[in-house]
Amino acid sequence: MFPLQRNRRLRKSSSMRALVQEHQLTPNDFIVPLFVIEGQQKKEEILSMPGYYRYSEDLIAEKVKSLWSQGLKSVLVFVKVQDSLKDNKGTEALNPKGLMQRAIQTIKNVVPEMIVMTDVALDPYSSFGHDGIVNDGKIINDTTVELLAKIACSHAHAGADVVAPSDMMDGRILSIRKSLEALNFNDTAIMSYSAKYASSFYGPFRDALDSSPGFGDKKTYQMDFGNRREAITETRRDIEEGADIVMVKPGMAYLDIIRDLRETIDAPIAAYQVSGEYAMLKAAAEKGWLDHDAVMMEQLIAFKRAGAQMIATYFAEDAVKLL
Ligand code: PBG
Repeated sequence: MFPLQRNRRLRKSSSMRALVQEHQLTPNDFIVPLFVIEGQQKKEEILSMPGYYRYSEDLIAEKVKSLWSQGLKSVLVFVKVQDSLKDNKGTEALNPKGLMQRAIQTIKNVVPEMIVMTDVALDPYSSFGHDGIVNDGKIINDTTVELLAKIACSHAHAGADVVAPSDMMDGRILSIRKSLEALNFNDTAIMSYSAKYASSFYGPFRDALDSSPGFGDKKTYQMDFGNRREAITETRRDIEEGADIVMVKPGMAYLDIIRDLRETIDAPIAAYQVSGEYAMLKAAAEKGWLDHDAVMMEQLIAFKRAGAQMIATYFAEDAVKLL
């Protein structure tokens, strides 16, 4: 009751505010997405993601050293596959000398302590741009799941610490977990994109990897954004199937889902602040309409406050510079 309580007492100076601050960011919070391309000495800016680049394998080595020196300790690797290598069977995804497998080895060679997470998905390898095998215009769940398990094992074999299936097929976590165990990859963790919504915020990412669906959309496998309880069901199931870390994606528009999960499950939760979220802030800042750094930090803290333990974000490097 006023004046016994005056909430402003604890806001009166910046040291006082720091003393009572409930949530902070540290470099340990961030997962840095990396886009890898074929070739040498190539650094290409992604048109719809200003300031974000695709790097060739040799430059990825330099990039990873630089991230490590800034205190960033985990990367999430995506590859851009040449059209000539795409098919409807994920053939190239299993190539032990493929771009992903080589990138994993390169990163592990230059910075062995860096946590290497890999995107386990078919879309960059698919002639249809879908996350599964296509038959008669449909995405075939169980055949896809078998293939994803093989892809995950191939990444583990190359040295991945964490495999991250981003496809939303049913049963893929159990299948991946069983396959990893069968091959003695007991220590390979699974970060499941467990509550991944069919979102239009992924647009710039699909430009980055040239992986847009050739027909239809992803609504038969990714979640309907009108749903909330379903995220809990999906996530519980993935944990039962052997996921170590679970994820909510996209980020900002789904903070309620992060909070729901924080209150119902105990596994570490990752938030993915996706490409469209990055693009929105970059565009507004470029126009001088928003203060880039201030808005970025406000958003990143919001993920922690909502209950996320880690954040995959294209802002990781920008953010650590300010910490
Ligand atoms: C696909 C995948 C997508 C993203 C990560 N993995 C796109 C999609 O589902 O179509 C999006 C990431 C982003 O937008 O930053 N397996």
